[in-house]
Amino acid sequence: MLNDIERVLISEEELARKVSEAADAINRDFAGKEPVIVSVLRGSFVFMADLVRKLNMKCTIEFITASVYKNGTAPDGKPDIGRMMLPSLKGKDVLIVEDILDTGVTLHALKELLMQDEPASLKICTLMDKPSRRKADIYADYSCFEVPDEFVVGYGLDYAQKYRNLPFVGVLKPEIYE
Ligand code: IMP
Ligand code: MG
Repeated sequence: MLNDIERVLISEEELARKVSEAADAINRDFAGKEPVIVSVLRGSFVFMADLVRKLNMKCTIEFITASVYKNGTAPDGKPDIGRMMLPSLKGKDVLIVEDILDTGVTLHALKELLMQDEPASLKICTLMDKPSRRKADIYADYSCFEVPDEFVVGYGLDYAQKYRNLPFVGVLKPEIYE
């Protein structure tokens, strides 16, 4: 698996430091509240697990699925969103946790869907942001890393469902997907 990685973009140490910083900001902003933390599967599962263990308020944890990639590195049409067992978010303070904000199409669609529940507030926390690729009008309230326009894997992110278990974020060798 390591042979397929061109270089490490974000090390385990940098990930831990920035995830802690994001948690500090969320702890300040949500003090006295009981947010619903919504993890967007599958890519955010590692980030989510590290982040929520640094939050000090009472919160509930929910999961939804969103996917635009069928099996490659290019988005494929409208995102497919699954609410799974997500309860109504009416009147709740919601924090969406995402792995990477790329074109923004996924989060835009997701936000629109969850807003139909009329939450009291809805914020977005993303591990990575690729602002150069943005197509939809959406931004993250909390973002740990701004990354260049390169396809990255690891720490939850995949290529064709693999590499999610790498402990760091790396750039995949182009020959793997070309
Ligand atoms: P968007 O709708 O273009 O913002 O795409 C968001 C989703 O695409 C993310 O939640 C990721 O799952 C996936 N994605 C975007 N860029 C990458 C990448 O560089 N590596 C792995 N997955 C990515
Ligand atoms: Mg994702």
